[in-house]
Amino acid sequence: MLEGKNILVGITGGIAAYKICSLIRLYKKAGASVRVVATPNALKFVTKLTLQTISNNDVYVEQFDIDEYRPEHIALTDADIFVIAPTTANTIGKIANGICDNLLTTTACAFTKPTLIVPAMNNNMWNNKFVQENITKLENAGYKILHPSDGFLACGTNAIGRMKEPEEIFEATVKIFEQKIQKLSGKKILITTGGTKEKIDPVRYITNNSSGKMGIALANTAAKMGAEVTLISTFKVEGNFKNIVTETAREMENAVKNNLAPQDCIIMAAAVSDYRAASYSEQKIKKTDSDRISLELVKNPDILKEISALQSNKIIVGFCAESENLLENANAKIKNKGCDYIIANDISRSDIGFNSDENEVYIIDKNLNTKHIEKDTKQNIAVKILEKIFE
Ligand code: C5P
Repeated sequence: MLEGKNILVGITGGIAAYKICSLIRLYKKAGASVRVVATPNALKFVTKLTLQTISNNDVYVEQFDIDEYRPEHIALTDADIFVIAPTTANTIGKIANGICDNLLTTTACAFTKPTLIVPAMNNNMWNNKFVQENITKLENAGYKILHPSDGFLACGTNAIGRMKEPEEIFEATVKIFEQKIQKLSGKKILITTGGTKEKIDPVRYITNNSSGKMGIALANTAAKMGAEVTLISTFKVEGNFKNIVTETAREMENAVKNNLAPQDCIIMAAAVSDYRAASYSEQKIKKTDSDRISLELVKNPDILKEISALQSNKIIVGFCAESENLLENANAKIKNKGCDYIIANDISRSDIGFNSDENEVYIIDKNLNTKHIEKDTKQNIAVKILEKIFE
């Protein structure tokens, strides 16, 4: 969960500051990159050199420490999360009241992503009316507070105020990232993927080049984002979802219809064959002396069009793979199919789309508003598609 994340660790001047070295190590072990901003008082408890060595990065203390083109406090706000541990009553009071008198408090004021505050102080300070008012104010404003425990305090008493242990701070950080991505919890999504196979005889069939990778990326991503996913595919796929394997367009149509009722959203990423052999030959078709042979094809049901015509309040999304006039064709397709969104991609490019791990798409809505999603991995494209359609 923390792999590749940028964590900004803020340290204020409490004795528990010495424990933050262990916290930084836990973050680093989990694959996160860590930058530290400390108040001048924090460095009375733990040295800058220790923090630099453990975080493998510079440690920022003074407003003008940062050798970057942007103002210092803004440069640090690039991080995905700001974890301030320990947070003294003094710093809690400043953040809750918009005071920016050092680099840490100024950064906290400019930080727009999640901030986790981990208080540590003497029990009388923690119980102080104004400190409690400030904590409530911060909680109401969306700051995450990891409340202190009852335990042995540096002042010699056993009481409330002891900072949560590094392992608990680590777990709280992971939980924040989990909550952040669980944007689709409670949603039910049906996704189709793969290229259908239309049998001609026991050995031959009509199919297409679809690898199914985009639909699988959508299924995995939607599941990670908390959705309950049903993936109807043309081959077996393992994952955190219900998988139904179908072969032909008509089998896929049945599976979609049988699983339609509970869904909030249907994403038809499958490349469904538009035609099938008019009749299936039970025996292998033999080669004859004739130089020509013709195969009669009949139209398959258009699953996307049929489910869009039901006018349910489900979000219905189709895909449009075109080798020319991409946007023109996609605009015509959304009108023809009657779905809510069309995801258009250009299959004339060899670097994206079919069989590739990357894609570049346009998301088009019913009013033909078009959002371009730049070339990226199919996983990242999936996140952007899901975020857009559940906006
Ligand atoms: O008509 P066309 O194949 O270009 O449309 C592509 C979209 O329609 C895709 O979302 C595909 O899954 C869906 N489709 C369908 N039934 C068909 C053909 C395509 O649902 N018979």
